[in-house]
Amino acid sequence: MSQDDLPAAERVSAVTFLDADRLGRRVGEPEPEPPSAAVSQRWIDRMGFFLTADPEGCWVAEDARGIAGFAISQNRGPLWYLATYGVLPDRQGKGIGRRLMDAALAHAGGRPGLFSATAHPGATRRYRLAGFTLHPQMRMVGRVDRSALPAVRGLRDGRDGDLEWMDDLDRSLRGAGHGPDHRYMLGSLRLVVCDDRGRPGYVYIDDDAGRPVLLAAAHPETARLLLWEALASADGETLVNCITTANHWAVDAGLAARLHLDQEGFLAVRGMIPPAPYLASGHFL
Ligand SMILES: CC(C)(COP(=O)(O)OP(=O)(O)OC[C@H]1O[C@@H](n2cnc3c(N)ncnc32)[C@H](O)[C@@H]1OP(=O)(O)O)[C@@H](O)C(=O)NCCC(=O)NCCS
Repeated sequence: MSQDDLPAAERVSAVTFLDADRLGRRVGEPEPEPPSAAVSQRWIDRMGFFLTADPEGCWVAEDARGIAGFAISQNRGPLWYLATYGVLPDRQGKGIGRRLMDAALAHAGGRPGLFSATAHPGATRRYRLAGFTLHPQMRMVGRVDRSALPAVRGLRDGRDGDLEWMDDLDRSLRGAGHGPDHRYMLGSLRLVVCDDRGRPGYVYIDDDAGRPVLLAAAHPETARLLLWEALASADGETLVNCITTANHWAVDAGLAARLHLDQEGFLAVRGMIPPAPYLASGHFL
């Protein structure tokens, strides 16, 4: 993949995930919408960052009609992750996804790895055949009952100087720091930290979407406080996703906030266990 491929790859991603969302839509859920111009631009910016940080992990599949699929993966020290992966609906089931995944995994070179997977039938089949263990993920949605919000103390806004201990915390939870991903997220999301050296933790909050994006903590109590801070800033419908069964502290906080609990996709891992206390980011893991 090259930087020139980004606009066409974004269109392929938009079509592919709209189709997958329609396929996976449950009774009573609204009809999925195509991404807005702002969301499409964010995809291009983010994938452009991945291409700069670790270009050898980023692949497109191309035929006479143009780009048919993509796999964007990254190595961060001893850890590999898959940020996103898709093949156009009318080209699926023909082995293109397999070749993309083989290229991304060759880049991983045996590193432990993880990613957040959809329940799409082609995806789950591909991942299991590639040797990943699939851990069911929960998610919580709804409006926060503000009368349930506890008083939260001991947190502050994060800054550049926090990134070093945050990487140490990442290493203890998932085997590698987020490294350049922290700097990228710091540019577009609000960072809140607990810098208590005994029980540190951090959460990135997307204030536009009113939801936590990535949360890591040394202790479930710190994780709970950070999640409450994120829930307090949600002013409308919120979403807490990527909750594995090892993270029931998040289920407890979400239920206390009167959010609704259901299931969505899998955390796929190999050579490691699902991190906890931890809520992975879909793209930065
Ligand atoms: C996941 C995805 C990238 C795989 O690409 P692909 O080109 O379909 O992959 P392949 O054809 O190499 O392999 C898919 C496997 O699942 C099977 N499969 C594909 N689509 C299927 C479907 N709708 N139902 C049942 N099986 C399906 C294929 O037969 C193949 O199995 P096989 O190798 O034993 O024959 C593609 O299906 C996709 O884009 N899905 C929607 C988006 C998505 O969920 N992406 C993953 C995000 S984590």
